[in-house]
Amino acid sequence: MSKIAVVGCTGAVGIELVKCCHARLSVFGTESPDLYASPRSAGKVLDTPYGPLTVIEFNIETLKSKSYDFIFLAVSGDFSLKNAIPLTTNVNGTDTYVIDNSSAYRYHSDVPLVVPEINFDSIAQMNSKLIANPNCTTAIAAMALYPIHQQFKIKKLIVSTYQAASGAGEPGMQELLDGCKAHVNGETMPENKIFSHPLPFNCIPMIDKLQDNGYTKEEMKVAWETRKIFRTDDIKVSATAVRIPTLRAHAEAITMETEKDISPMAVVECLKGKPGVVVEDDPANNVFPVPLNCSGRDEVSVGRIRQSLIFDEKGVDLFVCGDQLLRGAALNAVLIAEKLAQ
Ligand code: HSE
Repeated sequence: MSKIAVVGCTGAVGIELVKCCHARLSVFGTESPDLYASPRSAGKVLDTPYGPLTVIEFNIETLKSKSYDFIFLAVSGDFSLKNAIPLTTNVNGTDTYVIDNSSAYRYHSDVPLVVPEINFDSIAQMNSKLIANPNCTTAIAAMALYPIHQQFKIKKLIVSTYQAASGAGEPGMQELLDGCKAHVNGETMPENKIFSHPLPFNCIPMIDKLQDNGYTKEEMKVAWETRKIFRTDDIKVSATAVRIPTLRAHAEAITMETEKDISPMAVVECLKGKPGVVVEDDPANNVFPVPLNCSGRDEVSVGRIRQSLIFDEKGVDLFVCGDQLLRGAALNAVLIAEKLAQ
């Protein structure tokens, strides 16, 4: 039985973390996780699958005194930079694994960046109690791409993302819904505060901070993190990250060049039975991954698998979609803990 804390429990990822733990009572036990947040949220009572739980004000000494087995951080990078490493030690001297959803430690060479189906062994190799959870679009694509990489060796990836409003948390969803309602009712659209442009009936081809090379941090994360998770520097990655007016589940159009010959049928065979991935690819009958069907689902869906018109027999195009709050965040983190607990 595991003692678990969720820090940042009131946010979109925090709420999903609690649900994902509850879905694994046989692994973690029936005791509810302790829920922590800022003083602003402390004292609130959250309706959770464990029943109502009161939010506790975060205090590092309180957490250390409880000697948790797992602490999930669903907080800002600055908060993680200050607290993640200190939280890996506790008063009893037992192992506390801290699984951090921010990007604070993802690129540290001594911190594993983990998709459990791909590189779980990097935790033992790096002997680290701090584990970084990947960026959402990266984790979703990685689930589909890693089996393909193992068999056909990916050389180049061109990724275009279609990211839901909830990638910017609950306030992002609210801004989209409020704007849609105002538009439909013929009212003045409320001012956009979360997104750089109004999102309803729009798409915004820039997510996160601009880097010196003209790409955004969100786009560079796909490149940096894919290479770290796949443990190779040999894959070239270029991405365009786009915000679209969906509520939940991120989608990605992916073009790849491979070293070995590849075909759509070979990709279907390769992905068959792989944990966490389903192929939904019958375009003649309108069967392909779409965000509404992928919302709330654990699996990443892959479809529209076509031979590349650029790379011919050395490439395919495909479309991937997954729930970014689950595989792209909470589920991935909880699956890491589940494997550590076994
Ligand atoms: N950075 C991501 C986004 C969050 O903005 O969509 C992942 O859910």
